[in-house]
Amino acid sequence: MLYLIGLGLNDEKDISIKGLEAIKFCSKVFLESYTSMLNKATKSELEKLYGKEIILADRTLVEQESNKILNNAKTDDIAFLVVGDVFSATTHTDLFQRALKKGIKVEVINNTSVMNAIGITGLQLYKFGKTTSITYPEENFKPETAYDVIKMNKANKLHTLVLLDIKMKEKGFKERTFMIINEAIKTLKEIEQKRNEKIITSNTKLIGCARLGSTNQVIKAGTIKDLEKYDFGNPLHCLIIPAEMHFIEEEMFEHYKK
Ligand SMILES: C[S@@+](CC[C@H](N)C(=O)[O-])C[C@H]1O[C@@H](n2cnc3c(N)ncnc32)[C@H](O)[C@@H]1O
Repeated sequence: MLYLIGLGLNDEKDISIKGLEAIKFCSKVFLESYTSMLNKATKSELEKLYGKEIILADRTLVEQESNKILNNAKTDDIAFLVVGDVFSATTHTDLFQRALKKGIKVEVINNTSVMNAIGITGLQLYKFGKTTSITYPEENFKPETAYDVIKMNKANKLHTLVLLDIKMKEKGFKERTFMIINEAIKTLKEIEQKRNEKIITSNTKLIGCARLGSTNQVIKAGTIKDLEKYDFGNPLHCLIIPAEMHFIEEEMFEHYKK
């Protein structure tokens, strides 16, 4: 059996009892290590709770060498842990499908994701449009996707959740690097300067969220002008560009402006 287990957002204790029980009888435990991270738990804290060694699974192992994970699951119970929820924002559908094709049974144990934790902003989750992400520009590759998605969602009166890039060491970054809200705003302003479609102006409303699910989470609402220099503290960060708001959403926006 392959167990796909969501870990939630904050620390080692966010796992469900069901998830923890499954890990206890698994012979190998993989932790997907490249698309997110817990707010505050180290690998060794997780290992201590599970009483098991954790094997970190990078992008290459998951996307190109998944047999190294799946072949174990033909005969043994294997756990594949994902920070947040298993299929939210990062879809591990590929691993799921490959397992099924190999005749391996899969059980999914869900958990909280950034995609529902943002409900705390007061914006109604069913009024969000397509989620997008902002990545660090690479040579000859400066994507404008986020700008286009914000534009499309706004036209449809839908809020936009913008997730921010995580770069791993091996991609030319010295350390694992997490994009912060200030960098994301700068990128959106640069695209605006080029496109000049008035989608992102200094008066554009924004809600910045840092370390959602932790006791020191920060949720701050304001305009781009108000927030472009605001210090949100340690990652992870994401931001929301609200569309037209219902009056209760407006009230919550005002609450987070203070
Ligand atoms: C690929 S998504 C996360 C997917 C994860 N499986 C989940 O369900 O939450 C990773 C991005 O989401 C955002 N994110 C994740 N956790 C967060 C948190 N606790 N607070 C703020 N942003 C977060 C960051 O922008 C981060 O780079």
